[in-house]
Amino acid sequence: MKHLEFGKDIPDPMEPYLAVDRSGPRHECWVTGHMVAGLDGTAAIDGKVGALSTEVDQKLFRQMRQIADVVLVGAETVRKEGYGLVRLSDEAKAQREAEGKPPTPPVAVVTGSLNLNWNLKLFKAAPEHAPTMIITSAAADPDKLAEAKKHATVVIAGEERVEPAAALQALAERGHEVVLCEGGPTLLGEFVAAERLDELCLSIAPVMGGDNLPVGIMPDGGGVHHFELKSVKGEEHTLFLRYEVAKEGSGHE
Ligand SMILES: NC(=O)c1ccc[n+]([C@@H]2O[C@H](COP(=O)([O-])OP(=O)(O)OC[C@H]3O[C@@H](n4cnc5c(N)ncnc54)[C@H](OP(=O)(O)O)[C@@H]3O)[C@@H](O)[C@H]2O)c1
Repeated sequence: MKHLEFGKDIPDPMEPYLAVDRSGPRHECWVTGHMVAGLDGTAAIDGKVGALSTEVDQKLFRQMRQIADVVLVGAETVRKEGYGLVRLSDEAKAQREAEGKPPTPPVAVVTGSLNLNWNLKLFKAAPEHAPTMIITSAAADPDKLAEAKKHATVVIAGEERVEPAAALQALAERGHEVVLCEGGPTLLGEFVAAERLDELCLSIAPVMGGDNLPVGIMPDGGGVHHFELKSVKGEEHTLFLRYEVAKEGSGHE
């Protein structure tokens, strides 16, 4: 065991995240999860993330979207948070365009029920370069599917449920190599269970007493998955941890 001590200030907190090599995913695309948890592991307070997230964490959350070719989110998070569109600074947009990417990434919502508020800006005001996507299964209700197609680009990925591998394959075919999964816990658990999570950026907020909702919910039989700690940063009593999935043969898997 070793002491971790605070080092130098990081002038640009995004710099270490932008420097990560995400060019070698295990499967279809590189998937980064970005979540915040309380000290008791809670993922929400009164159904929302807001009170868990310090100012620095919220800023990092918004900035992290710069790394994404697509932002993936579960439908319950969209319903509870009234999810909006991705906004980036002019500088971040320019950097992306210089790399041949659209200025902002699209959001892709995973849903079986298709019970979504189509009046959200997420659907009504998506920019032409980043139309919002709906990822659902072949079992979706045909009438709701027809309605969804009026508001978003619909992708079918799986028969009864959305299969993470099929969803990522569809995203890869559209040229999306880096997928930023912003939760919620159910969606994150599905991707971990399917061995599709490559990286986890987890903020630990100095709070206890939120909802009885852990930051990741594994489906039954989802297995045990190991990660390696790659970096630790801190600010305002919040920890910013970055993990990557343990590589085969590393002794940590
Ligand atoms: N702490 C954090 O970092 C963080 C991040 C995000 C969200 N949250 C919080 O987490 C809560 C919501 O999380 P949650 O776990 O309840 O829900 P969630 O993961 O956001 O969404 C679950 C929904 O996604 C759809 N879904 C997920 N996997 C699917 C699959 N394989 N096939 C088809 N549909 C699938 C289903 O939508 P349908 O019901 O439409 O079929 C399911 O009900 C909110 O309170 C939010 O504030 C916290």
